[in-house]
Amino acid sequence: MRKNIVAGNWKMNLSENDAVELAKEVAEIKVENAEIIIFPPAIFIPTISKLGLKLKIGAQNFYPKDKGAFTGEISITQLKDAGVSYVLVGHSERRTILKEDNEFLKDKVNAALEHDVKVVFCCGEELTIREKGTENEFVKSQLVESVFHLNADQLKNVTIAYEPIWAIGTGLTASKEQAEAMHLFIRETIANHYNQEVANSVSILYGGSCNPSNAKELFACPNVDGGLIGGAALKSADFSSIASSF
Ligand code: PGA
Repeated sequence: MRKNIVAGNWKMNLSENDAVELAKEVAEIKVENAEIIIFPPAIFIPTISKLGLKLKIGAQNFYPKDKGAFTGEISITQLKDAGVSYVLVGHSERRTILKEDNEFLKDKVNAALEHDVKVVFCCGEELTIREKGTENEFVKSQLVESVFHLNADQLKNVTIAYEPIWAIGTGLTASKEQAEAMHLFIRETIANHYNQEVANSVSILYGGSCNPSNAKELFACPNVDGGLIGGAALKSADFSSIASSF
């Protein structure tokens, strides 16, 4: 069966001291029915990792080459050395601000899986696409172009995060009906491309202004297996309350 996951995407926030404190507090959160992952700024990963805390550490970004002349970039193997077991791929901020396209994201998915690092693959539509009613086709194309080249075995190491761009950091949240409809669509799309058993084993997280007051109803949706949390992951009390919402 697929697992519940609550992941905190800290983005480009926090000082080293604050990051260490937050990591320690998150490691104290006791939940039995969900895995907790934190995605700190890369520069703090070695320090947090050396604390030996009981939580999974992920990286927000990496470059999909093993080594070489890529000034300023970090490879998957370097992140693995630092204690990373998950990476985010396809976050809308990287798609929009850093211009990462589906083809490049496919390379990132491949590079991570080649080195046994699990992928949280983000997808989701802008408001204009939802207003046109073409969000399903749009999200499907993101999956087809960056993920569906994988075989069923490889897909086991991929978690999908549906993050409607209009809900990220805006305080607007998808309603539980909107979230469930898209999560169900994603699962059906995986079932059509692979099979139902594979689709049932993939965790699909919701992201976009998920907070302590809406997490319960979102996580109660049959096809929502947890959340990718931004702003509310920066306060351990809020994150703890979200992680306890199953
Ligand atoms: P948010 O961010 O919870 O602050 O909306 C979610 C994300 O970007 O992963």
